[in-house]
Amino acid sequence: MSDINAIENDVVDHYYGSNLLERIRHACVSVGIDPDQLTLEQTSTFDEFHIGGAAATEYVLSKLDIQPNSQVLDVGCGIGGPARHIAKMTSSHVTGIDLTPGYIDAAISLSRATGTENTTSFVVGNAIKTHYENCVFDTVVSFHVAMNIKDRAGLYQEMNRVLTETGTLCLYDVLQSNENEPVYPVPWAASSKTSFLLTIDQTRNALEQAGFEIELVEDMSDTATAFFAKIAHASQSAPSPLGIKLLMTDDAPRLLGNLRESFESGSVKPVLMIAKKRISS
Ligand SMILES: C[S@@+](CC[C@H](N)C(=O)[O-])C[C@H]1O[C@@H](n2cnc3c(N)ncnc32)[C@H](O)[C@@H]1O
Repeated sequence: MSDINAIENDVVDHYYGSNLLERIRHACVSVGIDPDQLTLEQTSTFDEFHIGGAAATEYVLSKLDIQPNSQVLDVGCGIGGPARHIAKMTSSHVTGIDLTPGYIDAAISLSRATGTENTTSFVVGNAIKTHYENCVFDTVVSFHVAMNIKDRAGLYQEMNRVLTETGTLCLYDVLQSNENEPVYPVPWAASSKTSFLLTIDQTRNALEQAGFEIELVEDMSDTATAFFAKIAHASQSAPSPLGIKLLMTDDAPRLLGNLRESFESGSVKPVLMIAKKRISS
């Protein structure tokens, strides 16, 4: 087994808590909601697995110009929350690709339950080697995925390949911000074995090498501060069974606590980057 395959297997093991769909259904029923008839407002409390959740996606969308009927690829789509959200807000079609089969099953099922199956589609696949033709997506987005991907050159080259000539790339990731490692486990990794954080400068270089021109780099620390304050506030009262913790099983408080500690100590921070494909002369 190659190094890359071993990493990917560990990534899938980390994310896929067994019976995810069953747990989602059970949590819905426990709060009196029909799991087959859901609204995006209901699913948004647990289906956006990144710092800031749905509010962060809305902010990111305010920085993009996604046209109605355009084609968007969501790389590392998780259970499909950002894809459904983007499709609804922009009237585009969003294709989600993710390594974790249990997440894709949940994404398909939740799109059916929310009536968004015509504007979203989901497929199991690896971000560094997708099966798409060249130049087919107008926008590629990826939220909190690159941290799991060692072959960053391969990831960004693949994103560049599938984008149209005028296409836009939007990355919202956790970056290394000083010389200290984060405290593991964190929501994306049990240990440094599956965590490959780059600094802003390293990410910039990797993107430029892959053929991108960077248009925006924005520190999203304010989003993280508000997110952790909201979680702390929610945990003082009875937490809703339909929270982001649903995706992290029983270890959620430790994973989120370590991420908060790593953020507050300055070792990591969330960053938004928007880039355009460099026009070849
Ligand atoms: C923290 S979750 C974020 C999910 C989603 N982007 C969101 O914001 O809700 C990271 C996701 O990246 C996926 N992932 C990690 N490595 C991947 C790879 N090489 N190819 C495709 N997906 C990958 C995982 O399976 C997981 O669903």
